[in-house]
Amino acid sequence: MPFNLSSSESAALVHEPQFVRIAETLREPLRFYLDGREVSALQGDTLLTAVLMQQRRIRESEFSGAPRAGFCLIGACQDCWMRTEDGKRLRACSTLVTEGLRVLTRTGSATGQAEARSGDTQ
Ligand code: FES
Repeated sequence: MPFNLSSSESAALVHEPQFVRIAETLREPLRFYLDGREVSALQGDTLLTAVLMQQRRIRESEFSGAPRAGFCLIGACQDCWMRTEDGKRLRACSTLVTEGLRVLTRTGSATGQAEARSGDTQ
């Protein structure tokens, strides 16, 4: 996400997809939950792909709060760690999304959990 956008412009882009699927569109669909919101993916998608098909970030930096979307996509950079609603850490680029998986884009569980329960995802 460009850093020269105003905060309202950045907020408006949060739910714009980062990725666009152009192939393998006939795989079986599945549902998972992203910050409490039911969304869809396809069997065989990595969690990173599934999330970035929905929005532009997978989490916020624990240091700066800046949006992160992974970097290497091959399990080397450690930029794509996400948490499930019950606190388990998942490396999004090397974890396949599964039916009913519930993940949060925000660490600092109190905020993420509260937003996940209320469905308020910014
Ligand atoms: S994107 Fe680099 S480890 Fe996942």
